[in-house]
Amino acid sequence: MHEHKGDSVSDGGQRTYGPLGTALVIIPTYNEAENIGLIVGRVRAAVPEAHILVADDNSPDGTGKLADELAAGDDHVHVLHRKGKEGLGAAYLAGFVWALDAGYGVIVEMDADGSHQPEELPRLLTALSGADLVLGSRWVPGGRVVNWPKSREILSRGGSTYSRLMLDVPIRDVTGGYRAFRRETLEGLGLDEVASAGYCFQVDLARRAVQKGFRVVEVPITFVEREFGDSKMSKDIVVEALWRVTQWGLKAQAAKLLPGKAAPAGDKDAGGADKDAGRS
Ligand code: GDD
Ligand code: MN
Repeated sequence: MHEHKGDSVSDGGQRTYGPLGTALVIIPTYNEAENIGLIVGRVRAAVPEAHILVADDNSPDGTGKLADELAAGDDHVHVLHRKGKEGLGAAYLAGFVWALDAGYGVIVEMDADGSHQPEELPRLLTALSGADLVLGSRWVPGGRVVNWPKSREILSRGGSTYSRLMLDVPIRDVTGGYRAFRRETLEGLGLDEVASAGYCFQVDLARRAVQKGFRVVEVPITFVEREFGDSKMSKDIVVEALWRVTQWGLKAQAAKLLPGKAAPAGDKDAGGADKDAGRS
């Protein structure tokens, strides 16, 4: 499958990984005017060869226009303007299509607010040389969170633990959003079937990667809570995540009991209440 020439890494003799192509860092934005210039500058400094795609949902605070100005002065910076706020997952899906069309070899997910430190990206990319998907992880030894309220930590740890047990995925930080994919991994995940709009999008991609047999590696990161602007986390986003994770888990259990009757990965028509979650 991997017939690339050049440096390749062998995974205990089982798998050989081709060299990493050019990376595209996708940064989804909704009202990140105070942060966009800082994060783009930090990514450019930390990984100069990488390109950046800002996926903006027509932010009322003018983030999209600021991103255009950055792109005008730097051929490594690109902007995808979307018509309105449709959730983190939808913005990433549009960004993935853009990235695969453009031919990038590595696709990175990164928040705009500085929580995912660009200075740690080289470590994620190094790990990707021997993996299909690398997750920046707060909840493995060496990983940590700076300046989060206890309530937020409990929500995140709880969400991760619930997802891990419910979905039977051996990942400590299932909901995290600092990730690096090989393009072949994204191509193999079945992105057309992903309907998650809010933050459970991250759980959805992680469980798909595990189900498809991709090699997923967690690398510890220090997640730093934002200084400027506000989190877009909302009750709707939590409800969507809880609802979908529970449904995926139950479907997977049913599939084990009744082989051939249920399809654990399919969720396009997963049901009503969650359609607009993550759009608040
Ligand atoms: N385009 C677009 N559209 N971007 C969005 C939207 C949206 O509807 N909602 C959020 N974003 C962007 C934000 O502008 C930011 O760049 C990034 O997505 C993360 O949003 P935050 O609001 O800062 O997330 P958080 O800090 O509360 O949540 C963090 O933890 C979650 C749970 O672990 C992030 O790391 C998430 O990725 C993670 O799932
Ligand atoms: Mn944040």
